[in-house]
Amino acid sequence: MRLHVADHPLVAHKLTILRDERTDSPTFRRLVDELVTLLAYEATRDVQVEPHEVRTPVTTTTGVRMTSPRPLVVPILRAGLGMLDGMTRLLPTAEVGFLGLQRDEKTFQAVTYANRLPEDLTGRHVFLLDPMLATGGTLVAAIDYVFARGAREVTAVCLLAAPEGLRVVDDAVGDRVDVQVVVAAVDERLNEKAYIVPGLGDAGDRLYGVV
Ligand code: URA
Repeated sequence: MRLHVADHPLVAHKLTILRDERTDSPTFRRLVDELVTLLAYEATRDVQVEPHEVRTPVTTTTGVRMTSPRPLVVPILRAGLGMLDGMTRLLPTAEVGFLGLQRDEKTFQAVTYANRLPEDLTGRHVFLLDPMLATGGTLVAAIDYVFARGAREVTAVCLLAAPEGLRVVDDAVGDRVDVQVVVAAVDERLNEKAYIVPGLGDAGDRLYGVV
């Protein structure tokens, strides 16, 4: 697994406001959107392109264009939905699928409750969106799910990660270089309720309210 921590003052600034318990939901949603756009820039560094000739008003030159198949962006419901617009802003041609994985609050294991993805993901680069990489269970389940359908490469985009969760993902994917995790920051640890510390609380609740 490759880990990329987006070390940038703008990312750190926005993340600090996100962590603040006084930040209200509208501000939280806007900041998540802005942060994801910054993370998306890092996360798409290895997106596949091919040479493409273009005529400028002055001459012709060779640039690039993205190759097919189109990337697939998959927000993990519910909190990953708050990251979708920020990601597709930079990848407007991507297809979007949905995966509902919830952690059982007693066992902390990931349980699938919704799936709206193409059956065949052969050759696809899949971007998984999940704001909080806590125990790693959800992400490992999602990675297994898309590789089992033929995905070529997985990039997980997260706001925060706990070292414990990163270890779980790393152990599960081993030496695979086709799994990358892009995060705004790696925090200290998990607490006894599997919340990230210092973290930002429950990302879904802060985005959408407690329902
Ligand atoms: N999910 C959250 O929303 N927050 C955490 O700290 C851990 C998991």
